[in-house]
Amino acid sequence: MTADLYPYTHLFEPVQVNGIKLKNRLVMGPMGNISMAEETGRPNAKMIAYFIERAQGGVGLITTGLVPVSHGIDPSVTELGKLSYFPRIDRSRTVYAGWRDLAEGVHAYGTHIFIQLTPGLGRVGSPECLINKYRLPVSASWNPNFYMPIVPCRPLFDRECRRIIRNAGQAAADAKAALIDGVYLHGHEGYLLDQLTNPAFNRRTLGHFTNWQTFGIELVQEIRRRVGLRYPIMYRIDLSTALNATYGDRMETVTSLKKFRNERLPDMTLAYMENLVKAGVDMFDVDLGCYDNWWLPHPPTSMAPGCYLQVAQVVKAYFTERGVKSNAGLEVPVVAVGKLGYPDLAEKALREGACDLIMLARPLLADPQWPNKAYAGRVAEICPCIGDQEGCINEFVEGGHPQCAVNPRTGFEDVIPRDLAPLGRKKNVAVVGAGASGIVCACVAAARGHSVVLYEKNRQIGGWLVPGSVPRIKYDVGNYLNYLEHRLAMAQAEHGLQLRLHTHATVDLLTDEGYDAVVCAIGAEPVKPPIPGIDAEHVVQAVDVLLHPEWAEKAARVTVIGGGAVGCETAYWLAYELGKHVSVIEMLPSFMKGVCTANRGHIIHYLEDKGVELLNGTQLKSISKEYITVVRNVSPTLPDPYLTWTPLLPENIENPLVKPIKQELKEMNIPCDLVVLAMGLKSVDALYFACQEQRVVPEIYYMGDVFSPGRIFEATKAGYRVGNLM
Ligand SMILES: Cc1cc2nc3c(=O)[nH]c(=O)nc-3n(C[C@H](O)[C@H](O)[C@H](O)COP(=O)(O)O)c2cc1C
Ligand code: SF4
Repeated sequence: MTADLYPYTHLFEPVQVNGIKLKNRLVMGPMGNISMAEETGRPNAKMIAYFIERAQGGVGLITTGLVPVSHGIDPSVTELGKLSYFPRIDRSRTVYAGWRDLAEGVHAYGTHIFIQLTPGLGRVGSPECLINKYRLPVSASWNPNFYMPIVPCRPLFDRECRRIIRNAGQAAADAKAALIDGVYLHGHEGYLLDQLTNPAFNRRTLGHFTNWQTFGIELVQEIRRRVGLRYPIMYRIDLSTALNATYGDRMETVTSLKKFRNERLPDMTLAYMENLVKAGVDMFDVDLGCYDNWWLPHPPTSMAPGCYLQVAQVVKAYFTERGVKSNAGLEVPVVAVGKLGYPDLAEKALREGACDLIMLARPLLADPQWPNKAYAGRVAEICPCIGDQEGCINEFVEGGHPQCAVNPRTGFEDVIPRDLAPLGRKKNVAVVGAGASGIVCACVAAARGHSVVLYEKNRQIGGWLVPGSVPRIKYDVGNYLNYLEHRLAMAQAEHGLQLRLHTHATVDLLTDEGYDAVVCAIGAEPVKPPIPGIDAEHVVQAVDVLLHPEWAEKAARVTVIGGGAVGCETAYWLAYELGKHVSVIEMLPSFMKGVCTANRGHIIHYLEDKGVELLNGTQLKSISKEYITVVRNVSPTLPDPYLTWTPLLPENIENPLVKPIKQELKEMNIPCDLVVLAMGLKSVDALYFACQEQRVVPEIYYMGDVFSPGRIFEATKAGYRVGNLM
């Protein structure tokens, strides 16, 4: 990341939002505080420590994640036994103390905080309520549930809509009493507020809320009535769900999309926003998309930096042209969101007037000190978000709470203090392997005062991050690699860490050096199963061809074996950057299983766009010079491999309504000149077990891919924890 525009004069300029003055132009984006509250909904120590950490990092305004005000109305927001994995503020005095502690805590660092109120999830909530509560999920009209489109969501009654509005007014009044500085309405991404205020989802023909603007406007009016004139109200909106632009002709053919053709278009959204200002809104942030094209509201690594700056600019231009002013007589600030964690880009957007404030959501999970570091010009020290969404979104989709792949303390600020653990006895430590886990471990151990040697068999540090950052769409991984290089250089200069490149650490070497502790972080190696022809010259590993694109030079047709993240991202690179005709085969019914829905959707959508052939249910049998032979399940019961508008369900959730996949196997040949293997990784654990057996040192650890081939998320967590333990 560059610091060409330093000092960042515009990022650190105050701004007035109705009755409050924010100290700078940086806003922490809302990220669901899932499982960060007591079962009653009272914010717990984890949530409070998490936000205080970000306030200490210098951000001007914090916004909380979504807080539903429709318990008892939207059955998907409450769990059985009236438990809640969301924080609540609609529950009388039981929960207030948590909110006050939170507000007082962040105020101590000069940061303001808004609470994000949501009318509910509606059709994008879990349909499990049908099975465990015998209640249909709800929406604005009869709409298919997002996770299981076969489950219908019933329209809310007018009286239920009115109750949600009343609840929101009460919640806002309670938030104000709990010292929260403003309310923030969750009107984007196809959640219930968007469902009620978007003709794609609200097709009501009877009753009070047939006009798609009515619910939102009455909601704002009620909140304004309850909180008074000077209390800030912020509203989050998508300029458009962009479903027609995403899916084109499929909007006519896919049953679950068909209903949504009549989406709110940008000029309709702008007119609605102007009406919302009249009703009492003081500030907006704006993005694009909804659940059904989930990569838009949750832009993954493969999307461009600042992807929605133009969207913010459209709103700003409209407000300027129409002279739109808030009820407080102020200009209505427009907050830009979406991959803005690059200080130069953010400063440039403000200087050029594309927006008034910069929202940082994931960048503040990756590095809560982003604002302080940007202010001080220490940009190389900012730990960048890599857009993988492994630790943040995916973690809570799978039942956890928000964390971060590159920041092992995120979500654990309550139990892992910012200061490293004090040193008991100084030790001589060897860390073997300079991938992400080894580097983090070595830097942490050295910073605590140990004498650390980091061994790397290659001439370069980074491990899988090196090939992993080759595709242009993985530029964030490249930024992370640069950050690790910088961190390592600082540890060498300040803490005497020794880096030994191009050195093979053997049992003998480790024994001879007389270390007190050894950490094996060697990583993993690509799998190469015994398939006829696999040793041929035109068969290469994905990680190798990424480092040697010249190997693909003469190939016109390439087949990638394995449709996980590595296989599909390599296919993307081969098709988009090297111009190859690409096929990908995958044994499972779906591609990129286990990868965040947003990241998966974006890659698969654009693989289809580029004509990459995705063959699911397909197993490699043999490789010949001009083709590969596969056995393919050609049963029509196999899912469409390009399906991105419905997510893959987590494995522990059974869909009783899904039809079983039948087997109709057919052998076929796929012509190709180059075969790229992306069939997974296996641990390289021999050194660890040899050291353990021979009792080379009194203290020995293994971590990252050596323990279990996986992701950066697990690697950095292990690196930090072991480095902080020894
Ligand atoms: C873990 C996580 C949880 C999120 N939860 C919410 C939420 O509760 N409410 C909301 O409006 N947006 C939510 N978002 C979207 C973010 O606020 C933001 O719009 C998105 O991450 C893009 O911004 P960024 O590139 O700065 O991260 C969430 C995003 C993440 C990563
Ligand atoms: S888990 Fe990944 S995407 Fe999420 S905040 Fe951390 S680095 Fe960014």
